[in-house]
Amino acid sequence: MLENKVAYITGGTKGIGYGIAKILLENGISVAFSGRKRDDVEKAEHDLQQYSDNVLGIVSDVRNLESEKKAVKYIIEKFGRLDFVVANAGLGIFKPVDELSAEEWNDMIETNLTGVFYTLKASVGELKKTEGYYITISSLAGANFFENGTGYNASKFGVVGFTQAAMIDLRKYNIKSTVIMPGSVATYFNGNIPSEKDSWKIQPEDMGNLVLDILKMNPRVLPSKIEFRATKPAK
Ligand SMILES: NC(=O)c1ccc[n+]([C@@H]2O[C@H](COP(=O)([O-])OP(=O)(O)OC[C@H]3O[C@@H](n4cnc5c(N)ncnc54)[C@H](OP(=O)(O)O)[C@@H]3O)[C@@H](O)[C@H]2O)c1
Repeated sequence: MLENKVAYITGGTKGIGYGIAKILLENGISVAFSGRKRDDVEKAEHDLQQYSDNVLGIVSDVRNLESEKKAVKYIIEKFGRLDFVVANAGLGIFKPVDELSAEEWNDMIETNLTGVFYTLKASVGELKKTEGYYITISSLAGANFFENGTGYNASKFGVVGFTQAAMIDLRKYNIKSTVIMPGSVATYFNGNIPSEKDSWKIQPEDMGNLVLDILKMNPRVLPSKIEFRATKPAK
């Protein structure tokens, strides 16, 4: 059912995006993914080829609408269609609000929030053709505020509101939209280096399997907002 389908994952050179790419490739879906650094994109593309040859790495920055439009153009040139978009690229800077700089604030809002809009803006024409699927990666921080989280909380609360409203606009075209709100995932986020200490966390492949399960659901049902957490958080 999912074979011959094509996915675009933003921020797929490592972490959650890479885990989703791996699982989709293993299940016969062609995958394009992005990242800002050419070397990292080329390395991830090479590594992902162990799962399937139908993979395309694209250097693109979600903060730039023209760059996202070009990314979608490459995908259509290479694969001829676009069925699934996962707006995943994001970053977190955690500081007290009085210490957070305007540049740090803008970096989070432009990447985590404006970026998911630009990725949709660039791809929605193709999603209409395929009656596709638009998935965003927010966070449990999109529902729960915490100390040092102002910029990150604002961006992730924003992604939840944005995706829910887009869901209503897009379902008229038979495009489904889901916002996923993960808890802690074992990635490179915020300078983390994944290791044994992260074994209690959600793993990137778990995110991939969640996305796969969502894509497999009957067309008549739509899980519009999903909280996804580790069963046993570390104390
Ligand atoms: N890890 C967690 O615990 C957790 C929990 C909830 C939600 N999330 C969310 O999950 C998403 C993925 O994070 P992660 O944990 O996988 O982090 P990660 O391991 O640091 O990976 C982030 C990915 O996004 C890319 N990226 C960053 N800025 C970008 C931009 N402007 N344009 C294109 N790509 C960009 C990075 O590549 P380059 O830097 O080379 O561009 C990298 O491929 C984020 O939205 C994050 O907020 C993470």
